[in-house]
Amino acid sequence: MEDSPQPSSRRISTSDDLEVSAYLEIGGGKEGGREGPERDPKSTEGGILIVDFGSQYSRLIARRVREHKVYCEIVSPEASWDEAGRINPRGIILSGGPSSVHDQAAPLAPTWVYQHSLPVLGICYGMQVLAHQLGGKVAASEKREYGHSVLYQSMEESPLLAGLPASMPIWMSHGDTIEEMPPGFKALGHTDNSPVAVMGDEGGMFGLQFHPEVVHTVHGKTILENFLFRVCGCTGNWTPENFVAQSIGAIRDQVGGGRVICALSGGVDSAVAAALVHAAVGDQITCIFVNNGLMRLEEPERVLDTFERNMGLNMLYIDAADRFVGRLDGITDPEEKRKTVGEEFIRVFEEAAAELENTEYLAQGTLYPDVIESRTPETQAAARIKTHHNVGGLPSDMKLQLVEPLRYLFKDEVRDVGIALGLPPEIVYRQPFPGPGLAIRIIGEVTPEKLDVLRRCDWIVIDEIKGANLYRELWQTFAVLTDSRSVGVMGDHRTYSHVVAIRAVSSQDAMTADWVRLPYDVLARISNRIVNEVPQVNRVVYDITSKPPGTIEWE
Ligand code: XMP
Repeated sequence: MEDSPQPSSRRISTSDDLEVSAYLEIGGGKEGGREGPERDPKSTEGGILIVDFGSQYSRLIARRVREHKVYCEIVSPEASWDEAGRINPRGIILSGGPSSVHDQAAPLAPTWVYQHSLPVLGICYGMQVLAHQLGGKVAASEKREYGHSVLYQSMEESPLLAGLPASMPIWMSHGDTIEEMPPGFKALGHTDNSPVAVMGDEGGMFGLQFHPEVVHTVHGKTILENFLFRVCGCTGNWTPENFVAQSIGAIRDQVGGGRVICALSGGVDSAVAAALVHAAVGDQITCIFVNNGLMRLEEPERVLDTFERNMGLNMLYIDAADRFVGRLDGITDPEEKRKTVGEEFIRVFEEAAAELENTEYLAQGTLYPDVIESRTPETQAAARIKTHHNVGGLPSDMKLQLVEPLRYLFKDEVRDVGIALGLPPEIVYRQPFPGPGLAIRIIGEVTPEKLDVLRRCDWIVIDEIKGANLYRELWQTFAVLTDSRSVGVMGDHRTYSHVVAIRAVSSQDAMTADWVRLPYDVLARISNRIVNEVPQVNRVVYDITSKPPGTIEWE
């Protein structure tokens, strides 16, 4: 590249604490981004790698990058270049993390971070890693900096802070600080406590002592935008339409002329996965839809109507309602219910799949949070709160190869892809519904009669929430049939009937949730309609528990 500085030699200490000398061909770093091969606009190539040092904000960084229509993936510091370089990245972000670079087992950036002439942005711990590995000095600060602070820009111009004011509010959370910058770096900003709050070199390597991904850093969005577009030269072309076009190609490459099955639950993830595979390989996909008798009112009919009649998918409909409800007979323990439904589902699915000959592939709507979580040691070790059963929980010994086109998407991105594919909004914007269905919303024994009562209450809740135009903005809204009965009076008669609880929660990802302050008139209508339209219920209560300490579902 004509305007690149000459290759320079840097000493890098790697995770093994090995001192290695790497020849780095440093280029770009100029405004307008570095030069590179022309890229296919439909491709996810040319995205950003986020090396995750265990920060609680790593996922948030990914969200923020994708909000700029730039593809990114989170990788572990242990990932090999074969694994990480697959997306042909344009830049690398080193996340924050709880460690200190001086800890014995402190994770460091793999050597490949420094070997490919790529721009790097180290955030908080990521900045300290950068300084430590490139020959600077990191030390414990005399004064820890948590929360709000003010950043003052230096006189040095840099593409990272281009267009930003001379001082700005930022959000800090660090114990260590940069005492000496690595050779070639300049301080681009400071705070009262950190002389080097922003650093950068000519080659497109930057470090931020603060967190640009959190909303409290008011100009954080612009800083990330500058890194993505001015420093890395990303094109911001990662749109749902491009994702669909790219996935169709990838699915065709993977599946060829093979046959695919997909367990359709009626939820958005499996629906979008199925529609994407259908768009790619047409009739080669058959969807298996199991009616487990634990669904909402008119649910099976609606799913069949949408997918078979409107979208023309091959559907294998299995009515196993009696089987499931029969197996649940007499079971009151929540975990036992979940296990029973999960096992029965696998049995029914395997029986159905066996009848479809020559099937080699299983399409699943696995999402990125599942992928990220399943490889986090902490979550694996975390206490089991409840066993989640869903259609993704099929046994690994099914000998089918997995097709998981949504593996790198977040929930709202899946919804955007669903819309790009032309799926009806009723499917795309559905609130989540658990795999074990109404069985875990009936406290105590599940019977056909109780299922019928709960279905009618649930219908009223959803109807009123939709009527009040609240459905899409709430994470979930539903009714729970408690195992309590209460005394009431109707006309001049005493009643002794079921108590139904209403739950409405807001959430980003179901890991935490808050109960929603529903308007009183909406609650009043729900209550009034339930006691009038469902004679087996004479009392309605509202659940005002957040998660934690509660969970979203009652069982
Ligand atoms: P909890 O009750 O654990 O629920 O706070 C978190 C989210 O997961 C849904 N959920 C399930 N989804 N299979 C699923 O597919 C399950 O077994 C299951 N259990 C809970 C729940 O509705 C909420 O959105």
